[in-house]
Amino acid sequence: MTSAVLAGSALSKHFGGVLAVDNVSIELGPDAPVTTIIGPNGAGKTTLLNLLCGAIKADGGSVRLEGQDITRTHMRQRMAMGVARTFQHTGIFRGLTPTEHLVLLANRIRGIQQLRSIADLLETFHLSVHANEAAEDLNHVSQRLLEIGTMVSTAPKVLMLDEPTAGMDLAEIAQIASVIRQLRGTMQIMIIEHDIDFVLNISDRIVVLDQGRVIASGTPSEIQRDGRVAAAYMRRGHP
Ligand SMILES: Nc1ncnc2c1ncn2[C@@H]1O[C@H](COP(=O)(O)OP(=O)(O)OP(=O)(O)O)[C@@H](O)[C@H]1O
Ligand SMILES: [Mg+2]
Repeated sequence: MTSAVLAGSALSKHFGGVLAVDNVSIELGPDAPVTTIIGPNGAGKTTLLNLLCGAIKADGGSVRLEGQDITRTHMRQRMAMGVARTFQHTGIFRGLTPTEHLVLLANRIRGIQQLRSIADLLETFHLSVHANEAAEDLNHVSQRLLEIGTMVSTAPKVLMLDEPTAGMDLAEIAQIASVIRQLRGTMQIMIIEHDIDFVLNISDRIVVLDQGRVIASGTPSEIQRDGRVAAAYMRRGHP
């Protein structure tokens, strides 16, 4: 794929004796606007995301954003260039309202003025009625949506989400899915996810990691037919 927005090439990372990410190449581009990363616990999913966004340094391999080598670019600078990520645990700011999150952080993170209207963002993320409440008083799904919305307010080129549906019930998962569908195509989206129904529902492409390696990559129907994927989950235990 020559039109990749974000591309990791032959990335590797070890922690002591553990090879957490082992020679992984991945391209996020318009042919698969929503790419999900699945795999058993400890497969290296979060580590791969951390390598792509610059939270940790790779032992080997490279990362390119729109063709530009950013392997040695710090996370903060990558964020300013349009590489946004959320964390496995929520990252909202206590004491700030949703409106304040959206107004203040786009400028702080990317040094840009608001590119989308606040009202529009609040509506997309189902936060209009909570616009002026303290973020810590919102329920779990609203906090998650606020976290994603805050990153979207920076108009990123790439949005990476680490387990956005963790701890949610079916109705809440459906809400996250509908927001992802609305964002699809406006930026490259990469999602680490355990909920397989959600994954099959929203993915253009699924990448399966096991023990630090890509063991399969394809459309939802291709992955469903791939025996290696089921085997990896059976061997390592489904979360
Ligand atoms: N900072 C760290 N220090 C030491 N070992 C780490 C560190 N981060 C990850 N690891 C190890 O690297 C491997 C991959 O971890 P990672 O968190 O990337 O997996 P994951 O696929 O995100 O798992 P999960 O589904 O549980 O979130 C695991 O063996 C983990 O224990
Ligand atoms: Mg993880």
